[in-house]
Parts: sequence; structure tokens; C-alpha cells
Amino acid sequence: MKKSIWAEPRDTVSIEDCYFYHTMDIPNHGSVRGEWDLRGQETTYLGNVSFQGKRVLEIGTASGHLCFAMEKMGADVVVYDLSEEQEWDIVPYAGYDIEEYISEHKKYLRRLNNGFWFAHKAFNSSAKAVYGTVYEIPDSIGQFDICTFGSILLHLRDPFLALQRATAHVKEMVIVTDVVPKFRGKLLSVAELLTGSRLVRFIPDAKKRRPLETWWNLSPRLVLEFLQILGFEHTEISFYRQKHNNEKIRMYTIVGHRNKPDTR
Ligand SMILES: C[S@@+](CC[C@H](N)C(=O)[O-])C[C@H]1O[C@@H](n2cnc3c(N)ncnc32)[C@H](O)[C@@H]1O
Repeated sequence: MKKSIWAEPRDTVSIEDCYFYHTMDIPNHGSVRGEWDLRGQETTYLGNVSFQGKRVLEIGTASGHLCFAMEKMGADVVVYDLSEEQEWDIVPYAGYDIEEYISEHKKYLRRLNNGFWFAHKAFNSSAKAVYGTVYEIPDSIGQFDICTFGSILLHLRDPFLALQRATAHVKEMVIVTDVVPKFRGKLLSVAELLTGSRLVRFIPDAKKRRPLETWWNLSPRLVLEFLQILGFEHTEISFYRQKHNNEKIRMYTIVGHRNKPDTR
């Protein structure tokens, strides 16, 4: 018999077995602290899109803060993420004990997924989850109105392939949120980011053997080009600052539409 693609909800997870990537206010539990605090910023981070009645595919939900926010805004959400059965795109530095790192990282992914299910239960969420790598999304996941890529392209060895694979399941809109790149240590102006060349900065440093989990700084101009190639010709972009630990990071969100949006 063919195995179901849908992940089994983890109903009996204890909080000690969870890692929270997002700071979240969990019903009947209280606040948990994560690296990113998106509370009150969800609409901006997701490009000010209306989710009412939309079927959404969220790529890389982590602890699910955006999933539960989109549900609250009226969406029917399917989250897609890695589990301990898959591997993160780790930068394979020669001489570095990658196997050891991967095995530790799998424990992290288990705790991350646990955090999602802990919150899922507390929020009484109806979201369904599928685990796999973004490059191999199963056809049986179906079609969606919207797909979101929140802070994930920078972590993928092949961001274009990831967009290509996910948007094959998208009828209407794709939302990409990422970090505004610095080039030679300098933040570029909005005009430079939008009209300049399609810049991409390769982050891994062979001498430092760091970072292990991040590959690219992608300029918004490049992501616009990716989306247009994939058939999302009508795009909107916004810039803002987002809280990460004790810093405010400059971010951008691009919304790509297959058809001209109705602006009435
Ligand atoms: C930096 S977190 C972003 C979480 C959330 N989307 C947000 O914007 O706050 C990246 C997420 O992408 C997932 N991820 C990383 N590599 C992936 C891959 N190859 N396939 C699927 N998901 C991946 C991670 O497990 C994690 O949930």
C-alpha cells in the first residue's frame, strides 16, 4: 500500500521536547521565546495579502507562528517542512565532520517539529503537515492559491529549483520574504536593490568553515527575475525592519501574482 504523505499529528508532545524558532503566545501555556519575534508584524512579513478563503502552502513553517496567523486570517493551510528523515542543505566543507553535524541537526529538527505540533494542538489548528525536502514536493499535495517562502531561500543550495518545484502547485500568488543583502558590508539603497544587477552573494567561507546552514544573500532584483521566469509577472515589493533576537534586520517581501491583481 502507498504510504500517506500527511504527517501524523504529535498529540502528546511535552514542552521539554520542543524547540521554538518563533516567539509565540501559546494558548493555555503562555509565551515561549524564539529567535524571531513576528508578533504584530505578520501582515507586513507576508506582504499585506488577504488570506480569507485561500488555500495556502507554507514552505518551511518551523514553529508555525505564520501558519497559525494565516489560519486566523481565514486561510486553509498546509505546511511543508523538513523532518529528521531528511537533511538540511548543509554546506559540505572539506575536513569538517558533516556526518556528526547532520546527526545533531536531525535532533534539532525533531524538536522543531515537536514545537509545531505542541502549538498546533494548543491553537486547535486544522493545518495539515507534509514532511520532505522542498525539491521533492509530492504531486498528491494538490494545488494552492498561495505559496509562502518565509526566510528559507537563503538556506537552500538551489533556491530557483525550490521556487520552481513549489510554484508548480500554485494557481495565484507566491510570497517570498528574505533578508536585504549587504554588499561589501554596505546596505544598498532601495533604488540600487531594484534597478541594479541581479546580485547574489555566496555566504559560505572556506577558511572559517562557516556558516553551515546558509548559502545566499539574494537581492530582491534577482528574486523578481526568478518569479517572472516562473510566470508571476505582476510583482509588489515592500521593505521593513524585523526583530531578530536583539537586532532589527532589514527585510523585504515580494508578492508575485500570475494574473494582474484586481486593485478596485
Ligand atoms: C529560517 S526558518 C523560517 C521559518 C518561517 N518560514 C519564517 O519565515 O519565520 C527556515 C525553515 O525552512 C525549513 N527548511 C530548510 N531547508 C529546507 C528544505 N530543503 N526543504 C524544506 N524545508 C526546509 C526549515 O526546517 C525551517 O522550518
